[in-house]
Amino acid sequence: MNTQEHIHALINVLSHSSKEDYTDILLNFNFQDINFSEIENWKIHSYTRNCFYKDENFELILICWDKGQKTAIHNHNGEECWVYLLEGELEEDFYELDDSGQLEYKSSQILRPNEITKSEGHDGFHRLRNSSKSRALSLHVYAKPIAQSLTFDDALGKLVDKNLRYDTFKSFVSVGL
Ligand SMILES: [Fe+2]
Repeated sequence: MNTQEHIHALINVLSHSSKEDYTDILLNFNFQDINFSEIENWKIHSYTRNCFYKDENFELILICWDKGQKTAIHNHNGEECWVYLLEGELEEDFYELDDSGQLEYKSSQILRPNEITKSEGHDGFHRLRNSSKSRALSLHVYAKPIAQSLTFDDALGKLVDKNLRYDTFKSFVSVGL
């Protein structure tokens, strides 16, 4: 099978499974068979979000992180998010809102290849950062797709609704999936 067929297989199994099984599905999927260089996209000043599938139930996004690139602190608007690390290393910082609505740092963890971090709910905030000395690649499953997230704006010093964009969108779905 080629990359497109392997991506179809991933979409197919996610489409026909309960979200409760997504973690096991991702941990057991053979990502070695997908040539992600067809989707990769690198920028000097920011990580990139590269969508390669979206329907009403979930979206699949490849995020390309160069050294030191990081997200702002954000939540997922109540949707669930799985981050599967394909390559490199990411550090994840967890935050929660305190009683006065201020973000409070809670803990951190390191994510390594073939590991997953899962986010859900409105209350959990996090930030991801490439803390290694090389590039990192991660696959993100958002179910349902997320168009906006509550994001901490450093310049304003507060949480704002931020529209999420794709740097690239390359659909691998053909008729008859
Ligand atoms: Fe996130």
